[in-house]
Amino acid sequence: MDTPLSAPGCPPAVAGWVAPPLSLYLHLPFCQVRCAYCDFNTYAGLNDLIPAYAAALEQEIRAVGQAAGAKLPVHTIFFGGGTPSLVPLEHYSALFAALRQSFDLTPGCEITLEANPGTVDAVYLAGLRALGVNRLSFGVQSAHPAELKLLDRLHTFEDVLNAVAWARAAGFDATAYGLNLDLIFGLPHQTLADWQSTLRRVLALRPEHLSLYALSLENGTPLRAWVYQGLLPLPDPDLAADMYHFAAEALAQAGYAQYEISNWARSDGHSPGYFQCRHNLQYWRNWPYLGLGAGAHGCAAGWRYSNVLAPAAYINRLAGGEVRPYPFSAVAVERHAQTHAEAMNETMLLGLRLTAEGVREADFAARYGLNLRAAFGRQLRRLMALGLLAWDSEGARLTPGGRLLGNRAFQEFV
Ligand SMILES: C[S@@+](CC[C@H](N)C(=O)[O-])C[C@H]1O[C@@H](n2cnc3c(N)ncnc32)[C@H](O)[C@@H]1O
Ligand code: SF4
Repeated sequence: MDTPLSAPGCPPAVAGWVAPPLSLYLHLPFCQVRCAYCDFNTYAGLNDLIPAYAAALEQEIRAVGQAAGAKLPVHTIFFGGGTPSLVPLEHYSALFAALRQSFDLTPGCEITLEANPGTVDAVYLAGLRALGVNRLSFGVQSAHPAELKLLDRLHTFEDVLNAVAWARAAGFDATAYGLNLDLIFGLPHQTLADWQSTLRRVLALRPEHLSLYALSLENGTPLRAWVYQGLLPLPDPDLAADMYHFAAEALAQAGYAQYEISNWARSDGHSPGYFQCRHNLQYWRNWPYLGLGAGAHGCAAGWRYSNVLAPAAYINRLAGGEVRPYPFSAVAVERHAQTHAEAMNETMLLGLRLTAEGVREADFAARYGLNLRAAFGRQLRRLMALGLLAWDSEGARLTPGGRLLGNRAFQEFV
C-alpha cells in the first residue's frame, strides 16, 4: 500500500458530480493449461482450490457490501479469468446469493461470464442463464487447427460451434445481451487469407459482439520466448495492420459498428449500442468499479487498488473475516488515492479508446469543472496536427488512422 489506511481518498470529480452505478469485476484465476501467449493472473493445476476460492470470493463480496454500509446499485457484473467456466454451478449459485444480498442489482444489469469452448455443455450454460448470467464471452482466437495448437488452446473450432449452439439454446441471444467471441490476429505464420477465413467462419455465427485483439508478445510467455529464440517468425506489424483494416471493413459490411479500438457490436432490432459491452464501457468511461478476487483491480471512492495475486494467499487472508473501510477488503495489497489531475488524464487515456464516443465535452466538464480546451488544449491540438485526433464541440476521438497509433496519442496523457 502506498498510502496509510486512514487516508480519506480524494474524490476525482467536482462536488455535485453524480457517479454512475457501480460495476463489479470478479476474477476466477483457474485454467486447464496456460496458453502460450497469456500473462493474465491465472494458474493451471490449482483446480483443487476452486471450492475454497469460491467460498473466499463469497466472503469478499459480503465484506465489501458490509463496508459500503448500504446496498449500492450495480449495473454490470463480469466474471473474468482465467476460465470462469471451470467453476461448477453450485458455486455460482452461492456467489449470486451473496451478490444479491450485498448489492442492489439494477433492472437489466448486464452479467457476463467468460467461457472457454471445450469446457461447457448445454446443461451448464442453461444453469448459468437460470442463475442470471445474461451475456457470454467465448475465447475462440482462431478457426484454424494449426493456429489453435500454436497458441496451446485445448479446443477445436468444432467445440466453438457446439458451444455457440448450446449458448443460443440456453437463451444467450438477442433476448439477453447475447454472445461475444474473442479472436487474436497477427499470429506467427498467419497469412491474410488465414485471418480472412477465420473471420468468415466466425461471422457466420452472427455473434452480437466481437473482440479482435492484435497479438501482444507479453513478457514471460512461452510465445514471446519462442519468437525471440528464433523458433517462430516475429509477426509483421504491417501485415497485422492489413488484417485490422480488412476486419474493420468486413465487420462494417456485416452490420457491426466499431465502438472501441478492439470491439464491435451489432444492434439489429435494438437501439444503437445495445450490445456494446456495458461493463467494459464502465472502464473506458473511467467510471467506478470494484475488483473482487485474486489480483483483481478496482477503482472506486477515489481509490485505485488491487488484491493479492496468489489464490492460496487470497483464501488465507479472507479466512480472518476482517472488514476494512469501503472499497477495500482484507485482500487489498496496493492502493493509490487518485488526484483530480490523474483522474482527468485517465479519463482521456481510457476514453480515447472509444472510437465513436471518445471523450465527450459535456461529460468531461460536468465531472471535472473544466472544458477540454482548458484541461488539455495543447495536447489535443498536437494530436490533431498529427492527424490522429478529431476534436469538435461534441468532444475528442481518434481518427481512423489514429486507431492503429493509439499508443502515440495516449502518451500525451501519461
Ligand atoms: C481473460 S482472456 C481469456 C478468457 C478465456 N479464458 C479464454 O481464453 O477463452 C480474454 C481474451 O484476451 C485475449 N488475449 C489474452 N492474451 C492476449 C495476448 N497476449 N495478445 C492478444 N490477445 C490476448 C484473448 O483473445 C482472450 O480470449
Ligand atoms: S487465454 Fe484464457 S484459457 Fe488461456 S491461459 Fe489465459 S485466461 Fe487461461
